[in-house]
Amino acid sequence: MGLPQRLILTLLSIYLYSATVVNTQQEFKIQSVELIIEPRNDVTAGTNVTLRCHATVSTSTGKGLIREYTILKNDKIVYTKTIGSSEDFVYQLHNARVFSTGLYQCKLDIQGDTKLSKAQRLNVQGLSQPVLHLNTNVVNEGEEVQATCIAPGEIGSFIFFFFDNDEQISRVEGLSNQAKTTFRLSGADIHKIHCSYKIRTAEDTFPSTKSNNVTVSVKELSITPELKIFPDSTIYEGDHLNISCSAKNVHSSSEGYKLFLSQGTKLLRTGNSTINHNMVAVPKASEALTFDCRVVVRNVEKYSEKKISVVELFSVPSLTMSPTEVFQGQIMTLTCNSDGFASQRINREDLEYTLYPSKNLPSSGKPGVFNVKALQNDFNYTCSAEAKGIKKDSKTLMIRPKVHVSALKISIEDKVILKKSFTILCQSNGSLPINYTLFKDNVQVGTKVIREQNRQAVFMDVINEPGERQYRCEAKNSLHSNKTGSSQHLSVNVIVPLSQMTLAVIPSSLKISEGKELNFICSVNGTGPVTFKWYRTGSVVPLQTNTTTETYSNLEIKPVSKNDSDEYYCEASNGANKVRSENVNVQVFMAPWKKGLIVVACLLLLLLLVLLLVASMLNIKSKRDRREAAAELSVKPSSPKSDDPLTVNLTHDTDVYNAATVKVDRAEVSVWSKRKPETESDDEISEVSNEPNVEYTEVVHARSTDPARGFGRIR
Ligand SMILES: *[C@@H]1O[C@H](CO)[C@@H](O)[C@H](O)[C@H]1NC(C)=O
Ligand SMILES: *[C@@H]1O[C@H](CO)[C@@H](O)[C@H](O)[C@H]1NC(C)=O
Ligand SMILES: *[C@@H]1O[C@H](CO)[C@@H](O)[C@H](O)[C@H]1NC(C)=O
Ligand SMILES: *[C@@H]1O[C@H](CO)[C@@H](O)[C@H](O)[C@H]1NC(C)=O
Ligand SMILES: *[C@@H]1O[C@H](CO)[C@@H](O)[C@H](O)[C@H]1NC(C)=O
Ligand SMILES: *[C@@H]1O[C@H](CO)[C@@H](O)[C@H](O)[C@H]1NC(C)=O
Ligand SMILES: *[C@@H]1O[C@H](CO)[C@@H](O)[C@H](O)[C@H]1NC(C)=O
Ligand SMILES: *[C@@H]1O[C@H](CO)[C@@H](O)[C@H](O)[C@H]1NC(C)=O
Ligand SMILES: *[C@@H]1O[C@H](CO)[C@@H](O)[C@H](O)[C@H]1NC(C)=O
Ligand SMILES: *[C@@H]1O[C@H](CO)[C@@H](O)[C@H](O)[C@H]1NC(C)=O
Ligand SMILES: *[C@@H]1O[C@H](CO)[C@@H](O)[C@H](O)[C@H]1NC(C)=O
Repeated sequence: MGLPQRLILTLLSIYLYSATVVNTQQEFKIQSVELIIEPRNDVTAGTNVTLRCHATVSTSTGKGLIREYTILKNDKIVYTKTIGSSEDFVYQLHNARVFSTGLYQCKLDIQGDTKLSKAQRLNVQGLSQPVLHLNTNVVNEGEEVQATCIAPGEIGSFIFFFFDNDEQISRVEGLSNQAKTTFRLSGADIHKIHCSYKIRTAEDTFPSTKSNNVTVSVKELSITPELKIFPDSTIYEGDHLNISCSAKNVHSSSEGYKLFLSQGTKLLRTGNSTINHNMVAVPKASEALTFDCRVVVRNVEKYSEKKISVVELFSVPSLTMSPTEVFQGQIMTLTCNSDGFASQRINREDLEYTLYPSKNLPSSGKPGVFNVKALQNDFNYTCSAEAKGIKKDSKTLMIRPKVHVSALKISIEDKVILKKSFTILCQSNGSLPINYTLFKDNVQVGTKVIREQNRQAVFMDVINEPGERQYRCEAKNSLHSNKTGSSQHLSVNVIVPLSQMTLAVIPSSLKISEGKELNFICSVNGTGPVTFKWYRTGSVVPLQTNTTTETYSNLEIKPVSKNDSDEYYCEASNGANKVRSENVNVQVFMAPWKKGLIVVACLLLLLLLVLLLVASMLNIKSKRDRREAAAELSVKPSSPKSDDPLTVNLTHDTDVYNAATVKVDRAEVSVWSKRKPETESDDEISEVSNEPNVEYTEVVHARSTDPARGFGRIR
């Protein structure tokens, strides 16, 4: 850009600026803006509609202002114009259409100052009738027809619809007021074609009336399919079928066609000309065979259908066994048999049966009958019947050879207690189900059927009388043979619960002196083996435990000591129950010789005191007479004190112990019952223990030194 041009631009802008400044200096006010629809708001299609925009503007100078008018339809600008005069602004809608329907507004803009009128609704009613044109009025079946539908004078967004005898066949959308479509008419007939359309506005959809009817006549194609099946008489299984599918009345001028031959849903063949198909008739379970021959020209399809039923030559064989259950290694008879056959074609003798697998089967002489030895394991057999080259297989027959019952075992789970039920179990090897029968002393007491693997037959029984019982199980798993498995005899000794317990004590007086023998005899009523336990009350540890097959036992305490005095009881158990005796209180007394010893000691002490008293009196007397002699006398008794008293004591003890042992040894009840007289012997001992004065003095001396110890031990 050159300098002179720049200068000119600058000058121009300065001029324009000054001009606007001049303009803005004119004061104005838009007072109102109004939109008027002429001739009225509701009109019919084709009316010339005028939108008049009337504005009132007050100005200071009265000079004209530049005004910019805008017409809005549904808030969208449709027209804008700037005018210099103060006249009404007029917007023409020539030949109003339904599409013009909407909400209109007028906007005035003066130097950026704007005012919007109130909205006015324009309603245009009536769509023009559509016009339908077809390119032809006569067509051959399958030919295309071209159709054009026009909405005269209409504008907007269109949807066109085409109808064949009032059935919609096509739909076209667009902004043009005409639409083209092509279609084929099927079925030889007269077709009435018409069309219609709809106009879519922002708010609504408006449907038109129907167009004129255009009549089209459709000429049917003369071509027809032809299906032939040979033979046409009764068809037996295995017969050869010749099937042909062809097209008839083919116009020499017409275009190519295609043939389709199907059986049911299976397409057998296709071709441009006659199709020939050969097949062997195979019957379909109680159903006819359906053949379908179809010819397709252009888009036209014609078909011919035929159903034939095929007679079965012979039925599918069935394989059966007899007997119905078989044990390993047993011979069984397998029979293969076809129930029915077409006697018109074959004889029974024509049927050949085969068993699979077939390994050197001994001939049974009868067709279809096979003697087979059952194997050790499961085995599958099938058989087939064959005639005239047709072979049919039976269903698989699964043979599960059974195993005879073996290794039958009987056992008892709990202790068998009188009048209490207990469980007897039987189990064996062999094929299931197995029926178990329980016998008690050869009398049947129960049966059980076991169907699950590794299950024992569980029987409950109760014995009400003491004594021995014989139990036995039998197992059976064959229906046809009487072969059973039998268990060994199981001897059961019933345990009789313990009762009537007695605890006898010897001596029966329950009073016994130290060193003697104490005997407890516990006896019960019931069955052994019995476990006896003796207790001192308050102790959980038994003094003695004996298990014996007898129903009594004893506890011996020998020799008894003072601290064996206690309460005792006995407990017995035999697996069925436990019984306890009452408590017996046994008291052990000090040995009689000890009592005697104490009495003697006391007497000696008394004697000593008397002697001392006498001596002292004598002493006083002689004191007065001879003082020297008195001193010698007082020293003499103390000299032998250290040796003698102990020896005396020891001899005494052994003597009494022996005496006691002699008496207790091998005690019998009679001996014990004579226990009372012992006290007399005690007296004897006390008499025996009388001894010379000198030694007596010594003993008393020793006892008196430790009286508390001796007393405590006796207790
Ligand atoms: C509408 O106006 C056009 C010219 O603008 C005129 O030819 C036509 O006759 C008018 N239609 C009616 C119905 O007045
Ligand atoms: C067109 O044909 C249909 C059915 O035949 C009839 O109902 C309809 O009135 C016809 N329309 C016209 C415009 O003739
Ligand atoms: C069927 O066709 C075969 C050869 O395709 C022919 O040998 C036989 O004769 C025909 N049978 C019939 C009944 O047409
Ligand atoms: C059918 O005809 C067409 C030509 O019209 C040819 O191309 C095609 O191979 C033919 N098909 C058969 C199966 O003969
Ligand atoms: C027998 O046939 C069944 C199925 O039919 C199969 O499950 C089984 O394993 C076969 N048994 C033998 C021993 O072949
Ligand atoms: C039969 O039972 C015994 C146990 O009672 C078992 O040891 C043996 O294996 C079983 N035999 C068979 C063939 O199941
Ligand atoms: C086993 O017992 C049931 C019913 O008690 C009976 O139906 C079945 O035949 C028996 N089976 C045998 C092998 O004895
Ligand atoms: C099986 O025993 C029943 C009676 O218990 C008897 O009638 C039948 O003959 C026996 N069958 C065989 C095969 O021994
Ligand atoms: C158990 O006592 C009863 C009487 O009560 C007696 O008949 C039976 O012989 C006693 N049995 C034993 C084992 O002592
Ligand atoms: C009881 O058991 C003790 C040992 O625990 C034994 O010395 C005594 O001989 C037994 N008595 C009987 C009757 O078995
Ligand atoms: C007296 O019982 C105690 C324990 O209780 C024991 O140590 C002592 O030896 C018993 N005395 C005799 C003389 O058996």
